Amino acid sequence: MSLDIVILAAGQGTRMRSALPKVLHPVAGKPMLGHVIDTARQLKPQGIHVVIGHGAEKVREQLAADDLNFVLQAEQLGTGHAVAQALPALSAERVLILYGDVPLIEAATLERLLEQVNDQQLGLLTVNLQDPTGYGRIVRDAQGTVQAIVEHKDASEAQRLIREGNTGILAVPGKRLADWLGRLSNSNAQGEYYLTDVIAMAVADGLVVATEQAQDELEVLGANDRIQLSQLERHYQYRAARRLMVQGVTLLDPARFDLRGEVSVGRDVTIDVNVILEGQVLIEDGVQIGANCVIKDSMLRAGAIVKANSHLEGAEVGEGADCGPFARLRPGSVLGAKAHVGNFVELKNAVLGAGAKAGHLSYLGDAEIGARTNIGAGTITCNYDGANKFRTVMGEDVFIGSNSALVAPVTLGDGATTGAGSVVTSDVPANTLAVGRAKQRNIDGWKRPLKIKRD
Ligand code: UD1
Ligand code: CA
Repeated sequence: MSLDIVILAAGQGTRMRSALPKVLHPVAGKPMLGHVIDTARQLKPQGIHVVIGHGAEKVREQLAADDLNFVLQAEQLGTGHAVAQALPALSAERVLILYGDVPLIEAATLERLLEQVNDQQLGLLTVNLQDPTGYGRIVRDAQGTVQAIVEHKDASEAQRLIREGNTGILAVPGKRLADWLGRLSNSNAQGEYYLTDVIAMAVADGLVVATEQAQDELEVLGANDRIQLSQLERHYQYRAARRLMVQGVTLLDPARFDLRGEVSVGRDVTIDVNVILEGQVLIEDGVQIGANCVIKDSMLRAGAIVKANSHLEGAEVGEGADCGPFARLRPGSVLGAKAHVGNFVELKNAVLGAGAKAGHLSYLGDAEIGARTNIGAGTITCNYDGANKFRTVMGEDVFIGSNSALVAPVTLGDGATTGAGSVVTSDVPANTLAVGRAKQRNIDGWKRPLKIKRD
């Protein structure tokens, strides 16, 4: 059966106390509404309709995509009114209502809910709550059949004792929707057109309201303030950590692990505490990541070791290669198999061949470095003249003396050597020593200055 999804995202979110529209606040580095849209896509609907209002332009700008239909709700007159704005665009047999500020809802739960929907039946997602304050209550008759939803503010004392709360998530037969929404009234405690009143109408029309339960409260929790936002963040991260552990990753502390993107992992990977993975990260078998590393859009090949406090972005660490502690690999950094980069080494657009080494305190930018080449401590590629960037190319088995400045463009042939402290401004042929520094003088009998006496 065909499916349209309507995502409500027009509300203000006053309690966030923010210039950013509520649904753009991130969970795991992605706007809450982005999570909901991605989950909606997994259900393969014919249309995804996002109802926007507060901060509409910002929301549209950030999330625009070909498969999204944005619908403006100029005034926020209630959840029923919000869905009604999307009506002209709806044509599927089933319509599912989601919320831009309820980001952790899972596709599997929604699939179960959608199975309930047919001409004679709608599906309502409910949740049993310790404290249902603020939620609409699910009113059932003596047989347990759902009769209506009563909003907290409109509920009697007896109804407020009901612990089964409305998540707001609902799936209905599409052809009934226009009729029900058209009959909503706003004569209630909040003066709003409540989507929840649709339930009693459906019952009156002889339809059955089938309920499904959310897995837990957090799956259907909406973020109204930054405290709830942090609860959602932790829950998301806990789920992500569990998923990785199930796939064969050792996390030394799942409570101190953050995923802000997507990771694919091999087996026997070990991740120490306070590691943040961002964007698209690939981690192959046997990789070890030390404490406090930030790794973004990078590939760690089998057996690679990233030691503590390293920062990688757009980098590839080859098989059995290692970097850190305190390594910084910027976009375009590639370490070949068994290459080694030590502490306080920064790479950018630099390719190190197999077994090449840069052990300490270097900047290597726009460089191509051959296999087994050794870069001494303090080496710098001077790749920028203030206007343009140039490349430094080194062959295999080159040995760069400590504190060399390699002024690009410059090429060093296989087996070349530079003396420590050299400023290398012209190419060095293969198997040649380049020394580009002032010659040492020893001054015989030189006296140190004496302290001048003042009175
Ligand atoms: C709603 C439900 C309540 C449920 C609760 C779960 C109604 C009447 N009540 O109450 O039964 O227990 O959610 O959290 O539906 N929105 C719009 N346009 C509007 C009004 C709301 O887009 O005109 C959006 C909001 O941005 C928000 C969502 O709809 O994402 C829910 O609206 P809100 O006013 O927070 O409803 P609740 O009072 O929480
Ligand atoms: Ca709410």
